[in-house]
Amino acid sequence: MNADPQTLPGRDTELQLTPDGRLRHLLTLKGLDRDLLVRLLDDAESYLSPVGAAPVRSRLLAGRTIGNLFFEPSTRTRASFDLAGRRLGADVLNLDVNTSSRKKGESILDTIYTLEAMAVDVMVVRDAGAGIPAYIARHVHEHVCVLNAGEADVSHPTQGLLDLLTIRQHKADFAALTVAIVGDIRHSRVARSTAQGLHTLGVGDLRLVSPPAMAADDDDLAFATVTDSLEDGLRDADVVMALRIQKERIDDLDSVLSIDDYVANFGINEERMRVARPDAIVMHPGPMNRGIEIDGALADGRRSVITRQVTNGVGVRMAVLAHVARATGMV
Ligand code: CP
Repeated sequence: MNADPQTLPGRDTELQLTPDGRLRHLLTLKGLDRDLLVRLLDDAESYLSPVGAAPVRSRLLAGRTIGNLFFEPSTRTRASFDLAGRRLGADVLNLDVNTSSRKKGESILDTIYTLEAMAVDVMVVRDAGAGIPAYIARHVHEHVCVLNAGEADVSHPTQGLLDLLTIRQHKADFAALTVAIVGDIRHSRVARSTAQGLHTLGVGDLRLVSPPAMAADDDDLAFATVTDSLEDGLRDADVVMALRIQKERIDDLDSVLSIDDYVANFGINEERMRVARPDAIVMHPGPMNRGIEIDGALADGRRSVITRQVTNGVGVRMAVLAHVARATGMV
């Protein structure tokens, strides 16, 4: 991609809204209006069905096409966008990145223009490059929407929304909550989006717990408390979210930390959760590395809401698709 100052992250807030304040693209939760955020969560709730019941379906997006363009691996996000689109009646195109022409040197914009020419209405994009979703959003036709499905270490807004929804289902009042996010904060787009959403909803106390080498190194999360003490971070917490070490974004992991030390000091388990509130919930965005950032028994135990996060991901993505489709007059 050519360097373009317009691709710099952090300029996405206005780009993602229509002039009358509706969501046209979803690029970031940073700066997203509280009322819009709450509306998205409420709508996501309406797309959920009781466990064991048939999923909610509609024909809202019948005749429309969603393109899943994942230039990084994914299980949850890709599958849930696929299901969300189909459950709203859309056609869904899952581009196989390993056999796509980007491998032959085609630019991301030429790939996008090619899909536009085949009447793809929504581009769902995951990419290792910071600024790519906004760059695409600046170049698509005015009726086309771009949804950020994971951007470098910058942003993963639908993950943030599903995390907020999961917390709201278990804990009534964000202002009364203590939330601890534990692990590789520095390289985590999930930490950024979830923390930004929590900040907008007025979370009482947000703690970012990590070894110093994995603490945030920018001002994006300056509103949170930072600690390298797991015990301090977990004390009286209502919500604890563990993060995977983002090995793919760390050049020489061995020089940064020892995995054994990490497990000893930052791996969460039932024993370490004793300082948290008795009704504290445990979250993880996935994929998990059991035995490293989270013990398997905790991940499968009574506190865990990890599978609920996955379920909520489909409802959140249906809500986002419905919002952007309405904002652009697609439906
Ligand atoms: N949480 C998340 O983004 O998972 P995937 O990488 O499997 O999509």
